[in-house]
Amino acid sequence: MNVYLIGFMGAGKSYLGKKLAQELGRPFADMDTWIEKTAGQTIKEIFEQQGEDTFRKLEADHLRKSKKHKQLIVATGGGTPCFHGGMDWMLQNGHVVFIDPPLDTLFSRLEKERGHRPLVSGELDFRRSIAERLAERRSIYEKAHLIMRGDNDEQEVLRLIKKSLQP
Ligand code: S3P
Repeated sequence: MNVYLIGFMGAGKSYLGKKLAQELGRPFADMDTWIEKTAGQTIKEIFEQQGEDTFRKLEADHLRKSKKHKQLIVATGGGTPCFHGGMDWMLQNGHVVFIDPPLDTLFSRLEKERGHRPLVSGELDFRRSIAERLAERRSIYEKAHLIMRGDNDEQEVLRLIKKSLQP
């Protein structure tokens, strides 16, 4: 079944997803990249020109389309589980892993890439807005089948995810 990596922006979903896919010899899909390809626009442009609601519909649509594949490792966007019933859909249709590094790790990663991320680029109180948004989403993220908490060694994270996939 497909594996869905979920978590906040900067959690490392794409990085870990690619590694996991390589190790398992499975195909990898990054939801944001996939949406950008179909829309012919960057996520930032979609937010700016079409608005967040349109982006969330595109996102929900792409998520459902991932079901056509059976072996995909999917790095979702930070908001994918939180709109249009995304979390319940993933729980029913795949194996869901929440990547949950410490807040300070998220801060330092996001600080470096603020310009590309529509939801953080304009925020004056950067740290507070991240902490608040994560707190709002946490109860949804925590419904995942597996939670990888803390700053664990990458190999250990991959080992535990692979173990959770065994029947
Ligand atoms: C979002 C996270 C982003 C992207 C969009 C909205 C969010 O994905 O989908 O900017 O709502 O948290 P990443 O988590 O891959 O950065």
